[in-house]
Amino acid sequence: MRILIIGSNGLLGRDLVEDWTGDDLIPASSRDADIREIRQVRQLAARAHPDWIILTAAYTDVDGSEKNPDHAFAVNCEGTRNVSIVARELGAKLCYLSTDYLFNGASDRPYEPDDPVHPLNVYGASKAAGERAVQEQAGDWLIARTSWLFGATRTSFPEKILLAADSQPELRVVADQIGSPTYTRDLATAIRELVRADARGILNLTNSGSCSRFEFAKETLRRAGRSTQVSPITSAEAGRPARRPAYSVLSPKALGRYGITMRTWQEALTAFLVDLRRRRKLH
Ligand SMILES: NC(=O)c1ccc[n+]([C@@H]2O[C@H](COP(=O)([O-])OP(=O)(O)OC[C@H]3O[C@@H](n4cnc5c(N)ncnc54)[C@H](OP(=O)(O)O)[C@@H]3O)[C@@H](O)[C@H]2O)c1
Repeated sequence: MRILIIGSNGLLGRDLVEDWTGDDLIPASSRDADIREIRQVRQLAARAHPDWIILTAAYTDVDGSEKNPDHAFAVNCEGTRNVSIVARELGAKLCYLSTDYLFNGASDRPYEPDDPVHPLNVYGASKAAGERAVQEQAGDWLIARTSWLFGATRTSFPEKILLAADSQPELRVVADQIGSPTYTRDLATAIRELVRADARGILNLTNSGSCSRFEFAKETLRRAGRSTQVSPITSAEAGRPARRPAYSVLSPKALGRYGITMRTWQEALTAFLVDLRRRRKLH
């Protein structure tokens, strides 16, 4: 198969490109096409003539989206619509990466793919609009919802915690947001398996288990052999511009149809730390 990866320079995109063998991969960064410009997407896709397009490109700055909603919607909604239209024109299947921030966090059980979405912030609203664009414009589509990505190809949450621990005696991390941390290498593997299984519809792809950001930070330090103290704080104390859901765990039930199970976030964290040491030669 020919697989066009739009967003190949991102945290997930880099792992998709590094680990995918056995198919023809065409990685594309924003220098190859700005997805806000349909003409550029058409030219890229015509050169690549893909069987599948995997769209990981997005404006992922959650707080930045509050200050710049027009940019968030231009990339995450209009850009996604452009890629969906071009996928349909070429007869290519589209895999769109989406987010747990579609939900408001009021649920008392993991979210299923058909639960109604109620985003609390601009980023979540722009990704929800992106999902609608995929469903309205693309022919054959798969929406892969994921959450709390971490990986070693770019600096992500656990590495930021380790770097902060280098310079601060005590860290303060929010304890009132619960989600599922997801390792981008595991996510890349699951996406590859779903593409090969010719999957369709909306699926949740996260490492199993859940925790608060505070627990995630503590477990990162413990597994890295650090003794830095971490104190729990509330989201209100953290004072970030974007509201975030208190609970955004995604149910893995529908994945069972494809025989895919993802390991726990703690096991994935250990694998991540090995990868991080290898790449950065630090910590
Ligand atoms: N990070 C998370 O915690 C998280 C959680 C849930 C869902 N997701 C979703 O998962 C996907 C991957 O996330 P990620 O963390 O890997 O993202 P990321 O590291 O921020 O990478 C996103 C990529 O999008 C590209 N991009 C931005 N604007 C573009 C434009 N106008 N045209 C073309 N490319 C553009 C950038 O390309 P260049 O670098 O080439 O400029 C960047 O490399 C996204 O769809 C995101 O919404 C992420």
